[in-house]
Amino acid sequence: MTRSARFAPGGALRGGYTPPPDKSISHRAALIAAMADEPVAVRNYLDSEDTHSTLNAVRTLGAAVEQGPDGEVTIRGVGLHAPLEATGGLLNVGNAGTLMRLLPGWLAGQPGGVWTLDGDESIRRRPVDRVAEPLRMMGATVEARDGRFPPFTVTGARLTGIEYDLPVASAQVKSCVLIAGMFASGSTTVCEGATSRDHTERMLRRARVPFERDGLRSTVRQVDELELDEVVVPGDPSSAAFIVAAAILVSGSRVVIRDVGLNWTRTGFFRIAERMGAVIVGELEEPHADSDREPVGELDVASGPLEGTVVEPGEVPLAIDELTLVGLLGAHAEGETIVRGAEELRLKESDRIAGVVDGLRGLGADIEATPDGFVVRGDGSPLRGGTIDARGDHRMAMLGAVAGLASQEGVEVAGMDAVAVSYPSFEQELRALM
Ligand code: S3P
Repeated sequence: MTRSARFAPGGALRGGYTPPPDKSISHRAALIAAMADEPVAVRNYLDSEDTHSTLNAVRTLGAAVEQGPDGEVTIRGVGLHAPLEATGGLLNVGNAGTLMRLLPGWLAGQPGGVWTLDGDESIRRRPVDRVAEPLRMMGATVEARDGRFPPFTVTGARLTGIEYDLPVASAQVKSCVLIAGMFASGSTTVCEGATSRDHTERMLRRARVPFERDGLRSTVRQVDELELDEVVVPGDPSSAAFIVAAAILVSGSRVVIRDVGLNWTRTGFFRIAERMGAVIVGELEEPHADSDREPVGELDVASGPLEGTVVEPGEVPLAIDELTLVGLLGAHAEGETIVRGAEELRLKESDRIAGVVDGLRGLGADIEATPDGFVVRGDGSPLRGGTIDARGDHRMAMLGAVAGLASQEGVEVAGMDAVAVSYPSFEQELRALM
């Protein structure tokens, strides 16, 4: 049963706000902790459907997971080289694309082990050939439905290091190859065409894995054990982005966002919004930090008039999950906003190019799809409002909610329950600022 919710304009948003824990970093913390020999304390682990799928997967493989209060999770891992459990079995990734793309990197390095990965209806439409190809080059066997989609089976092997040029700018694929590289003889290098989120690299450095970064090349060497004692997960800038967008669009708003992750590879949306005229005060991390930490800070956001902008392909991976919000800001801005080089959006939890174009057009926007993005034109006035379908996609549901608060007549979001994937308390926290 899907649930609808109505979001009507209700005046300025005001107050302090702390986003939920970062989803990307939570997935990585659970997976990497499960590969360690000593227990790892993960603090502020995200409580959501996606990140539960990851805890369930590592439990199935033999790790012990203890969940305490307030996001405390202790993981007693199985080490890098002990045989994993459930060989021959099924691992259910639910809706979690990150779990589906990272976990095979670990499984591929387990000689003699065989696992099948599957998930929900949306995950079955998302390609896995992008991870199958490099893992096969390293020596594993990966067989997917129609050569491309889940369910798919990974048969582990003794892996050999490779040098791999990513055909798509994907942090998930990069991370999968780097994880497999820890099991591969020699060294494994991944070359990206454009910088994407670097949480895996930071966590591997933190776990004392021999790791080097040189521009867009990341190299990892075979390792016997990981040394990781604790991971503190910062607030998720992608979840915060929906609140930031609401504060930018609803006139008279001012919201202080606390304890939010400010890793440069995740803050592209904030830079794009500032370029459009939004007032966002805070210390975003500088580019190319070679750190083993995740920077955390505060952002002070206020509403203001916006103008159109062009988002170029190099910026896309840095704002990949927030690009639909650029469409919404563009619909309220004066002039034209163009997003280019974002064809990857068609392969997310839903086709987000179709979703944002059909969805915002239904609310009164002048927006059209292009093969690799969209173009939206505004005159600085708010959208009319109407109904939007979340299409089973958590980020489309949150987009609809923000659009409603910024609109003239309000928006009915069909399928609001999709938010449980990344942000179960979204609606409550958004309304608390009104
Ligand atoms: C993620 C990377 C991105 C992003 C996804 C999470 C990650 O996907 O869209 O929500 O945690 O690495 P791609 O790297 O495939 O673009």
